Amino acid sequence: MSKSYLLAPSILSADFSNLAESIALIERKGGDLVHIDIMDGHFVPNLTIGPIVIESIRSKTKLPFDVHLMVDNPADYLEPFAKIGCEYITFHIEACVHAHRLVSRIHELGCRAGVSLVPSTPVSALEELLPIVDMVLVMSVNPGFGGQKLIPSCLDKVRELKKIQRNRGFSYIVSVDGGVNSETLPLVLDAGTDLVVSGSAFFSGVLEGF
Ligand code: DX5
Ligand code: ZN
Repeated sequence: MSKSYLLAPSILSADFSNLAESIALIERKGGDLVHIDIMDGHFVPNLTIGPIVIESIRSKTKLPFDVHLMVDNPADYLEPFAKIGCEYITFHIEACVHAHRLVSRIHELGCRAGVSLVPSTPVSALEELLPIVDMVLVMSVNPGFGGQKLIPSCLDKVRELKKIQRNRGFSYIVSVDGGVNSETLPLVLDAGTDLVVSGSAFFSGVLEGF
């Protein structure tokens, strides 16, 4: 039976010494996109990788790349990731003033635009962006690290976003990122999530069904 949602395993929990094999694993286990966490040590207290490394794995798969920018100046990174061939580029609403311009720029570069919000940011902060974005990524942990516990109240935002989407005919998908495992997956799906991100549970093999 095919699943009713999209799965984007996060390579934050992959074996960084063998990313090609981790990508192959995502393909074998039926992942739909590859979620790539970019952290700058400013917006979040952790550092990961940048466009050079992502470029080196782009040729390893045809799966779309779902880039999650947890950086202070997202405008500086749109072009590098677009040039590599990343399908989705998602930035944080908390990291920028001119979010509308960022969405337009991502579209101009031929990519799909996502906007994300940390647990303390309400859906109302996205009011002006919802008609134009392709994805809303709801963080269900405070960003920066894999393996944290899902904050259940964040799922109310998924319900709210899906309701707005239906009522106003918007086309964005809703993604949930952080603390998704076999136990929390039913709750995440029940809220109406379209795209599920999973790092530690996916790569440790405990996300049931994968
Ligand atoms: C956290 C990242 C997530 C992370 C999720 O800041 O944005 O994508 O990889 O990891 P898990 O699934 O382990 O919570
Ligand atoms: Zn992420």
